[in-house]
Amino acid sequence: MGWTLKDIPDQTGRLALVTGANSGLGLETSRALLQKGATVLMACRNQKKSEAARRDLLELGTTGVDLLDLDLSDLNSVERCAKAVQERYGRLDLLMNNAGLMAPPRRLSVQGFEMQFAVNHLGHMALTQRLLPLMEGRQDPRVVTVTSGAQYFGKMQWSDLQGERRYDRWKAYSQSKLANVMFALELNHRLHKQNSTVISLAAHPGLARTNLQKVSVASRGAWQESLAYRLMDPLFQSAAMGALPQLHAATASSAKGGEHFGPGGFASMRGMPTRQPVARPARDAEQRERLWTTSDDMIQCNKSEV
Ligand SMILES: NC(=O)c1ccc[n+]([C@@H]2O[C@H](COP(=O)([O-])OP(=O)(O)OC[C@H]3O[C@@H](n4cnc5c(N)ncnc54)[C@H](OP(=O)(O)O)[C@@H]3O)[C@@H](O)[C@H]2O)c1
Repeated sequence: MGWTLKDIPDQTGRLALVTGANSGLGLETSRALLQKGATVLMACRNQKKSEAARRDLLELGTTGVDLLDLDLSDLNSVERCAKAVQERYGRLDLLMNNAGLMAPPRRLSVQGFEMQFAVNHLGHMALTQRLLPLMEGRQDPRVVTVTSGAQYFGKMQWSDLQGERRYDRWKAYSQSKLANVMFALELNHRLHKQNSTVISLAAHPGLARTNLQKVSVASRGAWQESLAYRLMDPLFQSAAMGALPQLHAATASSAKGGEHFGPGGFASMRGMPTRQPVARPARDAEQRERLWTTSDDMIQCNKSEV
């Protein structure tokens, strides 16, 4: 028997921020944390959807749910969200970088970055940098970044990171999910060097039934992909099962900074959480450093323009 929801330690008194908390893995993560006594800040971009998700969670009989506006495709919205956490709470114990989108046609974020790079990676990096001071010195503070099995197919296209010359929506997704795990490891390395109390971990859900696939198909109108997902459906696990690796990273006392978790069953697509190796480029300190400085320049550039 593996690690399950029952193994989540008591979270009473802990404050967790979950991005993309209104749907799929984010919603299940919020539910599990609330059930164990945490206060959850649901950071979402769509007020109507997040209100509905909040009502769903309040049925658990808990009151510790707050809503925050966050559109990760706009670095100014990221800044406003972080400011709201600072002003309303002044502290944070867990940051779950969970929100994401998969393989849309090429679109640009508000600041002009390719949308998957911007939402999946850059917005989360900016949010993390901004919230870290609120986490420092807390009891067991953690940043968990959600990646994907797509990281193993990912390659950083250094000469065309934004897909300006050639955009392949699946390569751009894999690149952004590789960036997630590279960021998580580099962050942990930097925190450790600074003797920080905060640790950074990564997790992937395998294949989980959420809105990710539906939204992806709808953005492209690709009936072939819709059919493929229907045929693959038996391989998918529930959203609650898919959320277990990130919950493990966020709460298990045995989980350490720099570790990466995913489902331990068939082809790492389903099953109970286990520790798993990261994609090769994420083990390369030079590539991680390069991603960090390149991304940081993009974030800082926006700050200087505000
Ligand atoms: N499901 C899987 O099989 C699978 C596999 C590998 C990795 N993952 C990863 O798991 C994470 C969660 O995805 P999911 O499967 O739970 O999908 P989901 O049900 O579609 O949830 C994605 C969440 O991200 C939010 N989001 C998208 N763009 C955003 C933006 N610009 N600003 C703020 N929030 C935004 C969505 O908000 P809206 O509801 O407003 O769109 C939604 O709340 C993603 O990082 C994904 O890459 C999932």
